[in-house]
Amino acid sequence: MTQSIATTIRERVQQIETMPAIPAVFQPLLELLGNLDEAKVDEVARLVSYDSAIAAQCLHMAASPLFGLSQPPKSIKGAVISLGLRRVETILLTCCLGQAFPAKNWPIDPTIFWRHSLGCALVCQKFSEKLATADHEKAYMAGLLHDIGFMVNCLVFSQEFATAMATAFREGTSLDTAERATMGFTHCDAGQALAEKWNLADDITEVISHHHTVEQSQKSQALVALVHLGDLLCRMRDLGYGYYERHKVDLISDPAWAILSREYRNLETVDLVRFTFELDEAVEEIHALVAAVFGSTPAHS
Ligand SMILES: [Fe+2]
Ligand SMILES: [Fe+2]
Repeated sequence: MTQSIATTIRERVQQIETMPAIPAVFQPLLELLGNLDEAKVDEVARLVSYDSAIAAQCLHMAASPLFGLSQPPKSIKGAVISLGLRRVETILLTCCLGQAFPAKNWPIDPTIFWRHSLGCALVCQKFSEKLATADHEKAYMAGLLHDIGFMVNCLVFSQEFATAMATAFREGTSLDTAERATMGFTHCDAGQALAEKWNLADDITEVISHHHTVEQSQKSQALVALVHLGDLLCRMRDLGYGYYERHKVDLISDPAWAILSREYRNLETVDLVRFTFELDEAVEEIHALVAAVFGSTPAHS
């Protein structure tokens, strides 16, 4: 990517400031999530009470079998007690993202995008639990936000992005390959500009900018590799970008696998076949959750 393209992306991303739909609770929630302590249960409940639509979506999401509660919570505070503060914060951020980018005039089916993002979030979180990494909620957030550059491309480069999508669909190539060929930059570059504008944490920003170029990531390579593999797993199953990708994937021979196994020796013990079965079992539930939280645009996968 040339310097002038990087400048154009930054300038156009600034236009997002003029869009009214970013929920007021989004930035404070991000700050709370980045700076955790015990006294924040009331603070989260207070913030969420300002936005009844987000509160209702959060409760709906918290009641999903994907989060494993036997009794659906009746209030945000109840959800925090049952699920834990960090889980509720990540659920809330998921709902905020849906509101921040309402599904109007997208060149792609927003339902497919959200299924991929939420699917990747849940896969990364489960992968992280299997590896016993330190921070499963961070893995969820990284998976949820990894393709945030799609939204930038939909909103501020919609014509160019529509051409890139059409190329990817027609040729069965990966989307970042088609973007590079037709636009000269990818959703990773666009996402990085948005991550900087939103002051996202450095490790999440690195995931956004390098999940298709893991070897170029510097500080958070293990997290970037985990999200790269989670993204591939989703695209291999029914949680991709809504078209057939010709490229065949072998997770274990992917460079990200070697990077992750250097950090987590127990990666070798993860039963991938079983893991993909678990993912298949969750797919229907993810479809239902996305329809409930992000609207029910007719699906075509
Ligand atoms: Fe991506
Ligand atoms: Fe992705």
